[in-house]
Amino acid sequence: MILKYTLLITALIFTACSNNEPTKKHDGKKLLEQKCASCHDLNMPPLLLENEVAPPMMSVSIHVFDFVKPKDESGRIYEAVEFVVDYIKEPSFEKSFCDKGTLEKYGLMPSLKESVTDDEAKAIAKYMFNNYTQKRLSEAMEAKMKYDALPEGEKIALKNNCLGCHRVDKDLVGPSFIKIQNKFATSQNALKQSIKHGSKGEWESSRAVMPAFGQLTNEELETLAKWILTLH
Ligand code: HEC
Ligand code: HEC
Repeated sequence: MILKYTLLITALIFTACSNNEPTKKHDGKKLLEQKCASCHDLNMPPLLLENEVAPPMMSVSIHVFDFVKPKDESGRIYEAVEFVVDYIKEPSFEKSFCDKGTLEKYGLMPSLKESVTDDEAKAIAKYMFNNYTQKRLSEAMEAKMKYDALPEGEKIALKNNCLGCHRVDKDLVGPSFIKIQNKFATSQNALKQSIKHGSKGEWESSRAVMPAFGQLTNEELETLAKWILTLH
């Protein structure tokens, strides 16, 4: 009887402990946004702003991950996490992996010892090394290149969520762009006006409302209309 109870209690303590792991309490991504984004650009690929005050987080992560010297490869992420946890408490010119020119340009990072706990730092660092990897960067660059290569009209359609309701060749919430093209084939201007003011009841196939896009500039409307009229 006593043995049974002891086992039960041991089991309970174990479950309680494993539910209580420090990093599970912390959302690394959110903390990174709260505590680091004021200086480090979190975009991937980075925006490369001119008035940058710190290296982009992507560069920091890939850089630190490459530069730490673990005893064996499997310990690399552990070593990199330890580096970050220590660095944000006590940054120094000696510890930084940034080259001299970079350090002179930005100046030393201030210590965040007062505002970030070790557990929070660990969660942040784990997120950094899982999110900002060479592989993810290549994927992001590829996606960005694909996006950059799109026709301007399609970029405007994407930005304004036209494609949330329209497809090129099939009806969705609204009629397909090909059907719209047929209707407005002879008047680009009427098409522009229709996008700008929205519509209701023009299409039997859809009972929903087409919202007005009055916020678009004349140039954007022109580019969109041209794009729709040349789709095939
Ligand atoms: C007030 C601005 C500021 C904030 C906030 C800030 N940093 Fe930095 N950080 C810098 C600057 C400037 C550098 C470059 C100089 C240096 O290495 O100290 C840097 C460098 C670093 C480096 C070293 C990079 C290397 O290559 O050696 C790490 C790691 C780092 N930051 C992580 C973080 C993390 C994680 C946070 C959020 C918890 C954060 N930083 C918040 C300004 C900041
Ligand atoms: C919330 C869904 C929604 C979004 C977002 C949306 N549309 Fe529509 N669109 C519709 C619906 C529904 C209709 C059909 C309305 C009707 O029957 O008059 C429509 C109709 C149209 C028409 C035809 C209007 C007419 O007079 O025949 C054009 C042109 C059009 N949309 C272009 C666009 C463009 C360009 C965008 C992005 C800037 C866009 N739509 C975004 C739902 C949407």
